[in-house]
Amino acid sequence: MSKNILILPGDGIGPEIVAEAVKVLKLANEKFSLGLELVDGLVGGSAYDVHGTPLPEETMDKARAADAILLGAVGGPKWDNLEDRELRPEKGLLGLRSGLELFGNLRPAILYPQLADASSLKPEVVSGLDILIVRELTGGIYFGKPRGIRTLENGEREGYNTYVYSESEIKRIAHVAFQSAMKRNKKLCSVDKANVLEVTVLWREILEEVGKEYPEVELSHMYVDNAAMQLVRAPKQFDVMVTGNMFGDILSDAAAMLTGSIGMLPSASLDKDNKGMYEPCHGSAPDIAGQGIANPLATILSASMMLRYSLGEVAAADAIEVAVSKVLDKGLRTADIFSAGMTKVSTEEMGEAVVAALQEV
Ligand code: NAI
Ligand code: MG
Repeated sequence: MSKNILILPGDGIGPEIVAEAVKVLKLANEKFSLGLELVDGLVGGSAYDVHGTPLPEETMDKARAADAILLGAVGGPKWDNLEDRELRPEKGLLGLRSGLELFGNLRPAILYPQLADASSLKPEVVSGLDILIVRELTGGIYFGKPRGIRTLENGEREGYNTYVYSESEIKRIAHVAFQSAMKRNKKLCSVDKANVLEVTVLWREILEEVGKEYPEVELSHMYVDNAAMQLVRAPKQFDVMVTGNMFGDILSDAAAMLTGSIGMLPSASLDKDNKGMYEPCHGSAPDIAGQGIANPLATILSASMMLRYSLGEVAAADAIEVAVSKVLDKGLRTADIFSAGMTKVSTEEMGEAVVAALQEV
């Protein structure tokens, strides 16, 4: 039976990096007889330019019909000043995440031994780093209502958002986190701000409650400010971390940099049945778009996660990871991970090197 994969390149470097990931996917498809059918769609600013909305109904229909989605990134200065905030490119992404109920965001931060010198931290602090941040993705302050900017009686303007999590929202992300911990080293750290925010008092309570169903997992709690500090001081103390949408957004970007480049980090966003959307952790990088220098590996590794988590094609997923590692062994580096003595390559050269390496795996 064929599997329907929706490809959403998006904006900025999105189309450049997705093109390379698609080459890798097509080869994996042939080599492992995966039966993938790739379908293209528009999202973000590029969808706005054509349809006047960042998430056209046509794209949403394709997304619902797909077995999995591979997305580049959305956004850019061209659309930053759109008066109607609902039409901003980012709304396309948020609409996909909430419309498909992709509440479970898995963001691994793995330091490749070949890139140990790309990290800003000392090798002894980060060598062998392999952590997983589980971020709640469809709730919290990014979605809470009411929200807006209003003018007070005294004429002063005020911006406001609402931070809210229901019990069931916390429960389902807690299960994703505990299940991930069970597949790894049975260590879970829940990050909150329970000393200040009532939402996270409830969060902590429910994590404890769900934890009773996973007695083998060692559960700890940490305030988010300390967690930020600990991630930089001694990141290897963590294995799986779970947190809400906004804290997870920030912490996972910090964790990303421990590994040297945001250009190396994939992500998965899953629904309750493991249908998912896969995308690099980084954005559309308008500062380097169109130059052919973006690192496509985060997107290629996202395609590998897609095969692993949504399609159950573990051998093909492993093969792509091995191919990436081989390319790094050869010393090929895009600008973001370049260091002295290595060979600097373009986006396309990096993609083609992974294809060549996968050919041989
Ligand atoms: P960004 O992640 O796009 O860029 C941050 C820095 O990392 C830039 O210097 C960029 O050149 C570099 N970078 C990012 N990806 C890279 C890659 N693959 N290879 C080499 N270097 C890379 O974040 P920024 O600048 O805050 O946002 C730019 C735009 O992207 C904004 O419009 C923002 O809203 C959007 N964005 C979209 C996301 C998404 O689609 N998931 C996530 C984050 C931001
Ligand atoms: Mg972010």
